[in-house]
Amino acid sequence: MVKVDVTAYDAIVFGAGGAGLMAAAVAGERGRKVLVVDHADKAGKKILISGGGRCNFTNLDIAPDRFLSENRHFAKSALRRYTQHDFIALVDRTGIAWHEKTLGQLFCDGSARQIVDMLLDECARAGVVVQLGSGIRDVSHSDGRFEVLLESGLRTVAPSLVIATGGPSIPKMGATGFAYDLARQFGLKIVPPRPALVPFTLAEAGVLFGGVTGLATDVIARCGEAAFKEACLFTHKGLSGPAILQVSSYWRPGDWITLDFAPAHPSDWLVTIKTKHPRIGLRAALSQIMPDRLAHGLSDRLGLEGSLANVPDKTLREAQAQLSSWRFMPSGTEGYAKAEVTAGGIDTAELSSRTMEAKSVPGLYCIGEAVDVTGWLGGYNFQWAWSSGWAAGQVI
Ligand code: FDA
Repeated sequence: MVKVDVTAYDAIVFGAGGAGLMAAAVAGERGRKVLVVDHADKAGKKILISGGGRCNFTNLDIAPDRFLSENRHFAKSALRRYTQHDFIALVDRTGIAWHEKTLGQLFCDGSARQIVDMLLDECARAGVVVQLGSGIRDVSHSDGRFEVLLESGLRTVAPSLVIATGGPSIPKMGATGFAYDLARQFGLKIVPPRPALVPFTLAEAGVLFGGVTGLATDVIARCGEAAFKEACLFTHKGLSGPAILQVSSYWRPGDWITLDFAPAHPSDWLVTIKTKHPRIGLRAALSQIMPDRLAHGLSDRLGLEGSLANVPDKTLREAQAQLSSWRFMPSGTEGYAKAEVTAGGIDTAELSSRTMEAKSVPGLYCIGEAVDVTGWLGGYNFQWAWSSGWAAGQVI
């Protein structure tokens, strides 16, 4: 026999991640009766593993141009109305200690668990019901009400439904493409999703220097117009590290990636080294500015024999140019299994940028990673979860 939950809610939120919990807490504080449903056994699982367990919860330098979307203006409104400083104020009110690590990235001093606890406490204070371990069997919509049938057999109804079930990145953590299926059910378009903030794989012939696996070095990684000066890590499959993850979000199959191996050096650095140390060879020269194993691999590839004194300046300048724009053609990425986020998703053209409500389905809201808004590495994606969740929480 089907059990009937006699309680109707003002809003049902699918997904107890950062975006869903934020929306629920904000709406609950406004006196709305909110149910959060998630199939996972724990809330905020991605928060818990984020930032190496310390959660890089926002960034001091949030700016709309650090988010990718088919509509680069879409994120502006929510990011402006609920800023990184608003979230920092919430963290401070809760008494969570934090620090800036690098490039404006803010982390908990203690543990990511503090952020999840803070959101759950905000929900509890606001009377939000959080139902975990609860799959969603069916969703229907009629007469301005959404009716939801849970796998437990519970039926609930509400005039507002929020899709906050994220994207398919890291399926082993319970991530699914459910948001897209549900959005499609309501006729919303989806920008084709793709793994982002993800390591590249290189085909055998492209794996540059066998001896460098595990080595990290500072580079400027470029893909088209996008350029990031951070570390690159050589893996046994290809390339990773923050600089690579950043450009991966801009990459499409067939695009070249270029690496500048001398990001902090003036344009004529190799000729300058030759002037100072004419007797050394190329490998020793490169070792002055990069790890020796990498210098070995690169000098082998450049194939300049003998001491620098015997190499014409013109040839050295050509080598410099090659070292500052070393090209890789990735064979692919490590896919959703390793992607920190999913780019693409529910088309922003379907949504109000102020409230996140679907234009064609009043009462339906889409927030967080499920939407076609993807931030840079470094706290940007959580800020999008907080800002878009807050925006929906104001109106549901
Ligand atoms: P999120 O994915 O967090 O939540 C969705 C929820 O929906 C989950 O609880 C899930 O169980 C539930 N769900 C999914 N399908 C369902 C279904 N069919 N039925 C019911 N429930 C369902 N970002 C950042 O800014 N700083 C950082 O430090 C990191 N670090 C990081 C590390 C790793 C390893 C990953 C994978 C990701 C990050 N990120 C990050 C990205 C960040 O975690 C991500 O962008 C946000 O968690 C997105 O929040 P959402 O609430 O939108 O989705």
